[in-house]
Amino acid sequence: MGRVKALVTGGAGFIGSNLVHALVERGDEVRVLDNFSTGNRANLEGLDVEVVEGELRSYERVHAATRGVEVVYHLGALGSVPRSVQDPLTSNAVNVEGTLNVLLAARDEGVRRVVFSSSTSVYGTSPSLPTSESTPTDPISPYGVTKLAAERYCISFSRVYHSFEAVVLRYFNVFGPRQSPQSQYAAAVPLFIAAIDAGEPITIYGDGEQSRDFTYVANVVDATIRAAEASGANGRAFNIAAGSPASVNHVAETIGVILGKPVEKRFEPPRPGDIRDSWADIAAAREILGYEPQVDLAAGLELTAEAIVARV
Ligand SMILES: NC(=O)c1ccc[n+]([C@@H]2O[C@H](COP(=O)([O-])OP(=O)(O)OC[C@H]3O[C@@H](n4cnc5c(N)ncnc54)[C@H](O)[C@@H]3O)[C@@H](O)[C@H]2O)c1
Repeated sequence: MGRVKALVTGGAGFIGSNLVHALVERGDEVRVLDNFSTGNRANLEGLDVEVVEGELRSYERVHAATRGVEVVYHLGALGSVPRSVQDPLTSNAVNVEGTLNVLLAARDEGVRRVVFSSSTSVYGTSPSLPTSESTPTDPISPYGVTKLAAERYCISFSRVYHSFEAVVLRYFNVFGPRQSPQSQYAAAVPLFIAAIDAGEPITIYGDGEQSRDFTYVANVVDATIRAAEASGANGRAFNIAAGSPASVNHVAETIGVILGKPVEKRFEPPRPGDIRDSWADIAAAREILGYEPQVDLAAGLELTAEAIVARV
């Protein structure tokens, strides 16, 4: 296969930069569009990629970045449920209008396929576990609403514009190297690793028995690259996860064992918009994308702890 000209929006972020590393490694020609709001230039250090600093909310900027591109991996977004509860307007502008700009630019430039990074949050408190893609969507948080709206635009474009292809990936809780523990809205795994390593207490919202389908980033990257090629994937949404749930307490204890340090937990009330349990049915991704998670939770936590402790 020849070199693919790929645009990765949000390519300086956590998952985006892991994707860019994998694409470059297999010989793809890669361009990144990022405004560095939550992403970081250091995540792309030493890589031969074209970096366009730009704003997803500007059609002109997105269009310029899309020129000559064959595949768009659209990961640029404002993540975090609490952020969207705090400021739904900005989450909507970036996640929904930004996605519309990406889709329009891709349509106008004749891009072969757009792969969109959606989220488990579109399901809300799912009545059936494990949750398959046919489960009715019912997002609780504004973040989940933005992801669902963006998903629907992707699917709509794949239906109304001739030869336009889009694939939606619903990532579950992703963790791994280059996930920042520093932001006010940082995810649990990097926060736990940084705090436990520093001998500080960790904060758990709820009783810690809530479960998540924690997914190591290399698995997500593999699924994302497969989604750009797989036949039969156009116009569909796929769960991307490990396919097995673990409690937040279990993850915290496992990190303690890996680091060889005690875990001091502080419990706070659950946060608005948070769900109790999350567990993905990944049969569709297995069948259509040929996806199989390669790195399990324990191995992934070990690799993540190693990377984060080396950096903080
Ligand atoms: N991390 C997870 O567990 C998870 C789960 C489900 C879905 N997702 C989705 O995966 C994608 C990547 O998430 P991540 O965890 O790597 O987050 P991240 O915050 O590390 O990456 C997002 C990137 O988008 C960039 N960005 C944000 N706003 C922008 C704007 N207005 N213009 C241009 N660039 C902008 C940021 O600078 C950053 O580099 C997001 O779409 C997110 O919603 C992540």
